[in-house]
Amino acid sequence: MSYKFLLTRRDGPIEHLTLNRPDVRNAFNAEMIAELAAWATGFRRSTDVRAVVIGGAGKVFCAGADAAWLAKSAAYSEDENLRDAMATSQMFRAIDELPVPVIGRVHGAAIGGGAGLTAVCDVVVAADDAVFGFTEVKLGIIPAVISPFVLNKIGPSAARELFVTGARFPAARAYKIDLVHAVVPAPDLDTTIERYLAEILASGPEAIAAAKKLVRDVWANRSGEISTLTAQALASRRASPEGQEGLRAFLEKRKPRWSA
Ligand code: COA
Repeated sequence: MSYKFLLTRRDGPIEHLTLNRPDVRNAFNAEMIAELAAWATGFRRSTDVRAVVIGGAGKVFCAGADAAWLAKSAAYSEDENLRDAMATSQMFRAIDELPVPVIGRVHGAAIGGGAGLTAVCDVVVAADDAVFGFTEVKLGIIPAVISPFVLNKIGPSAARELFVTGARFPAARAYKIDLVHAVVPAPDLDTTIERYLAEILASGPEAIAAAKKLVRDVWANRSGEISTLTAQALASRRASPEGQEGLRAFLEKRKPRWSA
């Protein structure tokens, strides 16, 4: 499938997704959001992809929501406005819940919804000169639909400071608050990502999907019946064919033979 504002490239088991509106620094409008949601939905049906790398074309990763598109909401009815915001929220959720690891490749800048996009990635590798910011209050708006994902990553203390000031911050700070996981010179972004991909490809794909879901479920249920949920998750993984193969391979001191 081809898109107007996205580039997709398959490299063996790895899907590369590039935001492609470089003239406006990959700011997303309704059309790009619909394309991202369609990509994520289509992706869920493909079984041969083991990881996704999301990056941005041109000078930066992503400048967040397109301010011109947001400004148009003044002419929308209340219903239209809500529908539009729901579509944005659902797009972030669809990426957040992809069953394979998603790696964010951040160069230049990740601002507003662009920083929000990093929060729905499992691993984020950033260039050391990249700048981040939840700058919505500077435009008189708030980082609403991204907030559940951002709060899960950075917690309420950093979110309170960064959301109320709208201040931009460097990659080193993004690392400190766990929004990103590795900060490297820009020319080293791809080799660093290759190392993460090698770890992923050496691990059981079903276990990876279950591990990713586990984090989501446990975090969402941390005050509830969590022991039952974690015990069920462990019981089903270790008895599965993939779990058995991984355990046997370890005991037999050989590489596991994964099915994908
Ligand atoms: N919405 C719409 N247009 C945007 C945009 C956004 N979020 N971010 C950048 N653009 C446009 C600029 O208006 C400019 O358009 P022009 O060429 O017609 O003047 C073009 O993209 C290039 O922007 P510029 O600021 O010159 O690029 P830069 O490479 O120097 O800086 C950023 C890149 C991302 C750091 C900077 O563009 C920026 O901070 N953008 C605002 C991000 C923001 O506030 N996002 C929150 C939205 S809720």
